[in-house]
Amino acid sequence: MTAQDPLAKIAEDILRENDRGSYTVPTKGLYPFQWNWDSCLTALGQRHYDEARAWTEIETLFAHQWPCGMVPHIIFHLNDDGYFPGPEVWSTGRPVPTSGITQPAVAGFALRRLFDRASNRAEAEARVRALLPKVAAWHRWFFATRDPKGEGLVAIIHPWESGRDNSIDWDVSFERVPTEGIAPYTRRDTQHANPEHRPTKAQYDRYLWLVEHFRSLGWDTAKLHDASPFQVVDPGFNAILLRACADLADLAEALGEPALAAENRAFAARGLAALERLWSVEHGQYLCGDRTTGALIDSASVGGLLAAFAAIPPARAQAIAASIEAHGARFRVPSHAPADPRFDAKRYWRGPVWLVVNYMIADGLVRAGQTAAAAAITRSSLDLIHESGFAEYYDPTTGEPLGGGRFTWTAAMVLEFLAMERA
Ligand code: DGY
Repeated sequence: MTAQDPLAKIAEDILRENDRGSYTVPTKGLYPFQWNWDSCLTALGQRHYDEARAWTEIETLFAHQWPCGMVPHIIFHLNDDGYFPGPEVWSTGRPVPTSGITQPAVAGFALRRLFDRASNRAEAEARVRALLPKVAAWHRWFFATRDPKGEGLVAIIHPWESGRDNSIDWDVSFERVPTEGIAPYTRRDTQHANPEHRPTKAQYDRYLWLVEHFRSLGWDTAKLHDASPFQVVDPGFNAILLRACADLADLAEALGEPALAAENRAFAARGLAALERLWSVEHGQYLCGDRTTGALIDSASVGGLLAAFAAIPPARAQAIAASIEAHGARFRVPSHAPADPRFDAKRYWRGPVWLVVNYMIADGLVRAGQTAAAAAITRSSLDLIHESGFAEYYDPTTGEPLGGGRFTWTAAMVLEFLAMERA
């Protein structure tokens, strides 16, 4: 059906081209393995032409879940020297090598969406039933290890966990991460993409210091939160988890698993209440909190807008829609407020537009009744693709395509946006 639209045809071609059978690489060259949240969002695109394949994408990810419940951010299914840091740097000791940190917990949401829209109901039920306890174990792991004081929200301990690697949100907290003693290294990302559009060397040094520090602690995930000099409570990261908890609770209820439903509902309710502590009246959005100091971080990034993905109060969603409108950028939604002098239109997560984030914000705004704001994001996202093709991210002021090309999750989101516009 979708193949009739020329954009849909290209999107499907990209998804098939990056498909390695049971998992999909984000793009050739730059990211040659399986990434956690990429895969879950990719499945939403795959469902448009091959439902069974979409379930497999998520099942493959969960086949590499750690016994503690964590789902790692990268699964190194094969060797590839084109990426750094590879499995030998992480040294997590897993049978199939993986990284030792996690990523935004979008799986619960993806399962619910696949389930709700599946045409093969029997298959959907069987596949969700098998995944349900695994996703629930991941959620339980999050609150046990990343919210040790029971505040209701979880902290990330490495910027890579947020997926927004070099966001301005982390700058001040990142100053506390040392760089002394890290092993010499050669970056590979800058051989595949323009270095001006990627994180800096100073940031990479700190990314690696954290990896080496966690490795020295034997990747005992129960210890890493307290041992990390970087502990940030990101509203976007938490909103994804809280939305996933609510969606998992609904699935559990539908499939007759009341204990899992109650557990996840409680996580969602407690987290949504705690999220209110991160609201900024001045910025009209949520902000990150630095757990090591207890202070809010003065940085109006897309992380605080992405909170609309969870069931936040309607007045908050309305204010977020207004803040996006006030950005005045040619393309929505910049990953950082353009009025901030630190905004950088081309550097990865310091300004560029990312379609996955647009998708989650638009979805949340629809649920909150902000349909005009959501439609504007959807249209702007598709305009970008028409103008600039299927890139990793885009300059919000010019639409210039940036980072990797023929990008998997961008293609997946295009299939979803086209469906949203048809609905
Ligand atoms: C990278 O290598 O750029 C990734 O974002 C880390 O997961």
